[in-house]
Amino acid sequence: MKELIEKAAKDLVNSNYAIALTGAGISTESGVPDFRSPSGIWTKDPEAEKRAYESYQKFLTNPKEYWEERLTSPSLLGDLEKVKPNPGHYALAELEKMGILKWVITQNVDNLHQRAGSKNVLEYHGNAFNLRCASCNARYDSKEYDLGKLREEGKLPPLCKKCGGKIKPDIVHFREPIPSDVAHQSLEEVWRCDLLLICGTSAAVYPFANLPRAARERRIERERKTELGLFVAEKIPAVTIIEVNAEPTPLTVGKISDYLIQGKTGEILPKIVEEIVALCQRSYPRN
Ligand code: APR
Ligand code: ZN
Repeated sequence: MKELIEKAAKDLVNSNYAIALTGAGISTESGVPDFRSPSGIWTKDPEAEKRAYESYQKFLTNPKEYWEERLTSPSLLGDLEKVKPNPGHYALAELEKMGILKWVITQNVDNLHQRAGSKNVLEYHGNAFNLRCASCNARYDSKEYDLGKLREEGKLPPLCKKCGGKIKPDIVHFREPIPSDVAHQSLEEVWRCDLLLICGTSAAVYPFANLPRAARERRIERERKTELGLFVAEKIPAVTIIEVNAEPTPLTVGKISDYLIQGKTGEILPKIVEEIVALCQRSYPRN
């Protein structure tokens, strides 16, 4: 483990454009359950997963009933107002402050990266505290709508203040298209990066799981000197891909990632930051 943490620290320090991809695993140490691990929501309640696959269709066909249900049933993730970021979130925010991490692209809707201080966050599956217009993609803080009052007045679904379209929660349901602005910028960042730090995801849900594969496809050309002293051009992987996860994933098994540091993000990521600080102090010792 220690060697892998030192290796990750060196890779991050040597990177020019590192980004992170995160999933539910980075928030379990904050008390937010994940989905597919042994204690995951879908693992424990497969019926809930089946219902989740119907949500988007319900919004499209019967938005009033969709909202009635949403406003009267408890959230599967629990009360996200009460949870706090953990050392894993803070470590990524610290890497951003150091200028090493350029973006966090997350599947999480819990707002914990931002609450830990990360500024550059792309929410691939939306944000549980926001609403979004299904027509013009305008986003609103949920507090801008009094949903309880609208329900009492029989005025559900809420309507967009810009275009009059139907409002839904900003979170992205299964079978719902990823909002084009986030999908587009996420791919741009994956095409720009030279290091991908993947934290706490089973990498089982598409299209998000395509992002590491798109990064793996990228090649850069470099010259190599042969034994005969000739220079030959060769194509090498453009991106170093590091996984930090409690268990191997299809990225590990499929050799999409270069290496897996197996364990808890809340324990491993702070150690990587510590190692980077030590590395920098060794390289630039203060007198
Ligand atoms: N540290 C490291 N890894 C962890 C930790 C932890 N503290 N806790 C859990 N994990 C790992 C699990 O072992 C699992 O491999 O994180 C992974 C979480 O995977 P999922 O539960 O599948 O969550 P995620 O990949 O984010 O799911 C993707 O699916 O249900 C939808 O929209 C939902 O955004 C979600 C998407
Ligand atoms: Zn609108």
